[in-house]
Amino acid sequence: MDFPSNDHVLIGLDRADDAGVYQISDDLALIQTVDFFTPIVDDPFQFGQIAAANALSDVYAMGGIPKTAMNLVAFPGNDMDLAILRAIIEGGIDKLKEAEVVLMGGHSVEDKEIKYGLSITGTIHPHRILAKKNLKVGDSLILTKPLGTGIINTAIKAAMAPDELCARVIEIMAALNRKSSEIMADYAVSACTDVTGFGLLGHLAEMVCGSGNSVTINATDVPIIPETLDFADMGLIPAGAYNNKNFRKQMISFAPDVPRVIQDIFFDPQTSGGLLISVDPDQADKLLDALVNGGMPYSSIIGKVISDKNEKINIS
Ligand code: CO
Ligand code: CO
Repeated sequence: MDFPSNDHVLIGLDRADDAGVYQISDDLALIQTVDFFTPIVDDPFQFGQIAAANALSDVYAMGGIPKTAMNLVAFPGNDMDLAILRAIIEGGIDKLKEAEVVLMGGHSVEDKEIKYGLSITGTIHPHRILAKKNLKVGDSLILTKPLGTGIINTAIKAAMAPDELCARVIEIMAALNRKSSEIMADYAVSACTDVTGFGLLGHLAEMVCGSGNSVTINATDVPIIPETLDFADMGLIPAGAYNNKNFRKQMISFAPDVPRVIQDIFFDPQTSGGLLISVDPDQADKLLDALVNGGMPYSSIIGKVISDKNEKINIS
């Protein structure tokens, strides 16, 4: 397709990234992104929180500062109590306030199925954009949130997850990537994305494709919500994980001793997942310490970028 564009578009649809970036002046660019989805948890307020954290995340993944938001709402207002919609929107507002983002407006439509999300506009200096594909050879890769939210949400739908686990996973999904993004701004980060629907390896593949480099991942260093292993072992894998695997399998090789459940978890679609950060290896330990001490206790160095033009992901 011939997408309309011009010289101001620094990142557009021709090189799809976490968000689009449009240059306004020598030292200012806009970041724009939009995301909405159907409820993934029963509590409407928490659903609103998660949807907002998820929508904001793509701005944080570019290294930008979100400024304004617009609500996108689909709701069966003729059949359902409007107090539910109010709670969803209040959940979103709660996260916008935490992010210091203002709500400028929005649009709602009558629909059989609830959907909620936001469009977010942020700002960034044109020289400080953290594109996905700028991986540098030798860089360390850091992941800031644990994997497993897709599998555990499947377990929640099957009424197999205890309340304590539900609460813990909702807290992980509702956590903003703001602090991680602010912390990484002080380090020599070359590339960043956020882990969402394509899973860890799907989003890593997006970073690697077109980078001219490859990566190695140490499977045992990847943070995982512990209960995920049991549920994956029981076969509670969302269909999206298999789609993610089929789409990218030709560029991914697992060492024979990486268990099957771990392979599935690495493709598990995440909701409002963590940042995946490519950082100068001499600064990786310091950045990791700052993330852990800054409230991202699951953060871990999971691998590194290697010089191999075949653009492969090797997992051992
Ligand atoms: Co993203
Ligand atoms: Co997105």
